[in-house]
Amino acid sequence: MAFDFASLVPAGSPPPAVRWPGWAKYNFTFGNNDPDGLAIADLAAAAQTALTRDGRRLADYRLNTGPQGYKPLREFLVKKLKRDAAIDCTADDILLLSGSLQGLDLVNAALLERGDTVICERDCYEGTLNRYTRLGVNVVGIPLDKDGMRMDALEASLAELKRKGVRPKFIYTIPTVQNPTATILTMERREKMLALADEYGVPIFEDDCYADLIWSGERPPALYAMSKSANVIHIGSFSKSIAPALRVGFIVAPWSIMSRMLALKTDAGSGSLEQMVLAEYCPPHFNAHVPELRKGLKAKLDTLVDALGEQFGTSAEFDYPPGGIFLWIKLPDNVDSMKLYDKALAEGVAINPGPNWSADKTWSKSRMRLCFASPSHEQIREGIAILADVCRKEFGVPERSANVTRSRS
Ligand SMILES: Cc1ncc(COP(=O)(O)O)c(C=O)c1O
Repeated sequence: MAFDFASLVPAGSPPPAVRWPGWAKYNFTFGNNDPDGLAIADLAAAAQTALTRDGRRLADYRLNTGPQGYKPLREFLVKKLKRDAAIDCTADDILLLSGSLQGLDLVNAALLERGDTVICERDCYEGTLNRYTRLGVNVVGIPLDKDGMRMDALEASLAELKRKGVRPKFIYTIPTVQNPTATILTMERREKMLALADEYGVPIFEDDCYADLIWSGERPPALYAMSKSANVIHIGSFSKSIAPALRVGFIVAPWSIMSRMLALKTDAGSGSLEQMVLAEYCPPHFNAHVPELRKGLKAKLDTLVDALGEQFGTSAEFDYPPGGIFLWIKLPDNVDSMKLYDKALAEGVAINPGPNWSADKTWSKSRMRLCFASPSHEQIREGIAILADVCRKEFGVPERSANVTRSRS
C-alpha cells in the first residue's frame, strides 16, 4: 500500500492540485503570450553570446552579483523604467524575481497576517485574490469604471474602515491595463489615490505587468514615480513583453521594505540563465520588439471583437481595451458564467468565469474574461462560435448569431 502523506499535511493547507489535463482546444484562459510574437532567433543569439562570453559565471549562485539579481539586467531596468514609467531608481532599488508572482508572495509575507484587511479593485487578478483567501485576509473590492478604480468609492471605503478602527495594510492596484478590465487609471485618479494613501497612512502596492502592452505605446507615469512619500511598492514582469515561461519579474521598493523582502527570499536567487539572456537581449532589441508584439495582439483582439459581434451580437457587452491580452465581457443577467465554464469546457472551449476574477461574486456572475493572446485567429473564430452555441443551449442567449435566428433546443 502507498504511504499516506495526506495524514501528515497540516490543517489549513490548500486543497490538493488536480493533474493537468492539457490545454483545452480553444483556450481563452491564462495569461499566455502570442507564440507568433516571440523573438526566438534574437533570444537564441542572445543566449549563445551570453553563454559563450560569461558562461563561467553560472558556477556561482546568482552569477556572483548578489541577492538582488543579475546587475546588468537591473541596470537595463533602471533605464527602461525611467524612460517608460518616469521611475527614478538605481539598480540597488530593484530585486529580480522568479516571475512577479514571487513579488506578490514576498509583499504578502512581509506585510500580511491572518485577519488583516487589504483594498483592491473589485474585479481583480485571480492569483491575487486566491492568495488573500489562503492567507485569511479580508478583501475590500473597490468598483471600477472606464477610468479605473473609482476614487469616490476608495475614499468612502477608507473613511468607513477608519470609523471601524481598521487600517488596511495596503491598496493593491493594477493601474495600467488592469486585469481583467484592461482599464488605465487616469492621471487625476493617480494623484487622488496617492493623496488618499498619504491621508490615511496606507501604502500602495502597484502591479504593473501589462504596462508595455498599450496600443498607443504611451502610458501614464507609475504611481511609484509620482509618490512623494516613498509609500509605493512596484512590481513588473518580462512575462507579458517577452515570455512568461522565462519566469523573470522584479520589485522596485524603498529599502525599508526591500530589506524585509530580501530577508524572506530564501531561494538562493532566481534563475540566472534567464536573467543573463534578458540582459543580453533587451538593450538592443526590447524597444523594437514590443511594438511588433503589440501589433499582433491587437490584430487578435480585433478578430475576437468581430467574432463576438457575429456570434453574440448585443448579448456580449464590453469596452474595447486600450491594450493588454484580455477582454472582460458582460453577458445577459441570466447567464451563470460558472455554469457556462463547465459546459463550454466539455466542448473544448476554456473561459475564465467572472466570479474567479472578482471580489464580488454576485456582480461578476454574468461576466467572463477571455485571453486573446495565445489562440490563433482561426481558433478564436471557431472557439467563439462554439461558445455562443453552448451559451444559447444553456441560457437561451444569444438569440441570434451569425445572422441566423435559432430557437433554444
Ligand atoms: C496582474 C498580474 N500580476 C502578476 C502576474 C504574474 O505574472 P508573472 O509571475 O508571470 O510575472 C499576472 C499574470 O498573469 C497578472 O495578471
